[in-house]
Amino acid sequence: MRILGIETSCDETSAAVLEGSGDDVVQKSLVILSQDVHRVFGGVVPEIASRAHLTSIVPVVDRALSEAGIKLDDLDAVAVTNTPGLVGALLVGMSYGKALAFSRGIPLVGVHHMEGHLFAAALEHRDAVPPFTALLISGGHTLLLDVEQWGKYRLLGATRDDAAGEAFDKVAKLLGLPYPGGRYVEQLARDGRPDRFRFARPMLRRNAQQGDDEYYAFSFSGLKTAVLNAVRGSPNLDADQADIARGFQDSLIDTLVEKTWRGASSHGRTRVVLGGGVACNRTLAEAMRARLDPEGITVFTPTPRLATDNAAMIARAGLFRLEHGEESGLDLNAYASSTIPGLTAA
Ligand code: KG4
Ligand code: ZN
Repeated sequence: MRILGIETSCDETSAAVLEGSGDDVVQKSLVILSQDVHRVFGGVVPEIASRAHLTSIVPVVDRALSEAGIKLDDLDAVAVTNTPGLVGALLVGMSYGKALAFSRGIPLVGVHHMEGHLFAAALEHRDAVPPFTALLISGGHTLLLDVEQWGKYRLLGATRDDAAGEAFDKVAKLLGLPYPGGRYVEQLARDGRPDRFRFARPMLRRNAQQGDDEYYAFSFSGLKTAVLNAVRGSPNLDADQADIARGFQDSLIDTLVEKTWRGASSHGRTRVVLGGGVACNRTLAEAMRARLDPEGITVFTPTPRLATDNAAMIARAGLFRLEHGEESGLDLNAYASSTIPGLTAA
């Protein structure tokens, strides 16, 4: 099976070709075109994103096909992100994917963007397959899941307010760093001292019990406010910037690591899979490994190209859905938000 993946949910126009079946899949190509224009505005402007997708979708798909060494006629299926995301942006990839599938007479499958993030690590690591505990951390989502098998997901915890990536981006803004600021905060924090700004760990009572409301839940808006107060209270922000970044990142990482440990240990999982843009954070990956390795739990992180938004993960999730008999009609719609298919409450 040769499948083309298309991803246009936010500010990356991406296409990829995968070949294979089951967990035996080879990535033949992956093209990602990032829309830098949004930097000027300090955030993604939906209308500009849609227009940029329109101008780049054809060359991006062409390039993915040529890098894979194939022609349109060699494709067996098309997978496209249809939710969640910016509706106008999603529509561009979906319309293109639909037209392609219709004109070639091949199946089309709509993919949930977050299910895509769940499959990203499996493209590079043969053992990043269920059962595992997943931590999906992106600009819009923070989800802790127990994954018994592909397609069967139990929601352990989610954020009550800001997503992890959103917290990074807002803190970056407070510190005067460019957008999206996650990686700049991480860079800055490397030179920061850990003891100058010690922010409270959100929702991390040490004596919390499984079954407590906050046992797996996340909340980052209080942490963001604590950073805001530190920034306002600083007599010399240039001198304090790195220490504040360090204090913020330490607090956020502690919370993510501890909750992931709780999820894995209480379900007897020996594998943890990270996904989403914040999974690019190496300090987080190191902290996660330092905590979980001694417990006999292996941590899998995708490389940055696959951790952030990309079409290879969409093709991989689409392949799974097609192999399980799912196919979308030409009436497939775009939705700004929706739950991951197969997700149940804990
Ligand atoms: O998954 P993604 O590419 O897009 C969404 O689906 O949202 O995630 C983007 C997020 C942004 O908030 C960005 O600041 C964050 O990932 N990010 C990072 C790092 N690299 C990207 N956050 C922390 N540390 C990083 N190194
Ligand atoms: Zn994403």
